[in-house]
Amino acid sequence: MEDLERVVADAEAAFGAITDPVELEHVKARFLGKAGVLSEASKGLGRMAPEQRKEAGQRINAAKGRVEAALAARREALAHEALEARLREEAVDVTLPGRKRGLGSIHPVIRTWQRVEEIFGSIGFDVADGPEIETDWFNFTALNQPENHPARSMHDTFYVEGGYLLRTHTSPMQVRYARMHEPPLKVIAPGRTYRVDSDATHSPMFHQVEGLWIGEDISFADLKGVYTDFLRQFFETDDLVVRFRPSFFPFTEPSAEIDMAFESGPLKGRWLEISGSGQVHPAVIRNFGLDPERYIGFAFGSGLERLTMLRYGVDDLRLFFEGDLRFLRQFA
Ligand code: DAH
Repeated sequence: MEDLERVVADAEAAFGAITDPVELEHVKARFLGKAGVLSEASKGLGRMAPEQRKEAGQRINAAKGRVEAALAARREALAHEALEARLREEAVDVTLPGRKRGLGSIHPVIRTWQRVEEIFGSIGFDVADGPEIETDWFNFTALNQPENHPARSMHDTFYVEGGYLLRTHTSPMQVRYARMHEPPLKVIAPGRTYRVDSDATHSPMFHQVEGLWIGEDISFADLKGVYTDFLRQFFETDDLVVRFRPSFFPFTEPSAEIDMAFESGPLKGRWLEISGSGQVHPAVIRNFGLDPERYIGFAFGSGLERLTMLRYGVDDLRLFFEGDLRFLRQFA
């Protein structure tokens, strides 16, 4: 029975040498398992005299207790080491300065878009949204644009596969909206438009807002009132004058170019072209699915970049699309 001391010492040494918790459990079996050294020792008890058996049993149990304690201590030590190692590995240098999260802001053209929606919304216009990939019919034919119209050429229009094109204006939304709603129709449709064009005042992608008001008695006078009032609200000044200059669009008759001039400020007295407009052509009203003898009204299409440039005094359209933060921050 002397060797029980050795068994305990061996176990302590064996556990102490192990650094892997899984291996520790394997080695445990050697001492405490069913076929382990201590169980084997217990088997000898049956052959002993009762006196001896009691004493030997107690010694075996005591040894077992010490081996179990050594095991538990080693387990705990290994868990502690593992935790320490992980903490070291995942250490964070709290003295490093934080990473800044840049605060975004609304792009000036989108700000104009929102303002336009707000202003027309306040006088009862619905806001509609439609596809940027259009059919030839909605973009041209339905708007009374003849087959040989130059705007339909590859030089002006981006054609895409499958007989579609990128809408060259927001005007197809007049037709789409009219065919889905009952008159009176009172709507604006802001959105992206595309043309094969690129210089200081043209971008292949730009924004327009279409306006349409159709009823039984909507006149050119309503167009003048609504649009003039819109401009005064948009530019936040009554110091501007508006003129309707005769023009031509296939989808309106009569047609007018809307010009405005500020009566004060840096642009004082200069006429600036701001929008196309007109009384919707009877052929277009028919394509709305409506009777042109009964329904009449106006439409307009204005460039959102143009409105934005005039509002903020920006003179190069390309600034809107370059993403230069020095420019964009001025609107934040
Ligand atoms: N669609 C025209 C363009 O892209 C603008 C326009 C002119 C729209 C007259 C209209 C309108 O609704 O009545 O230049």
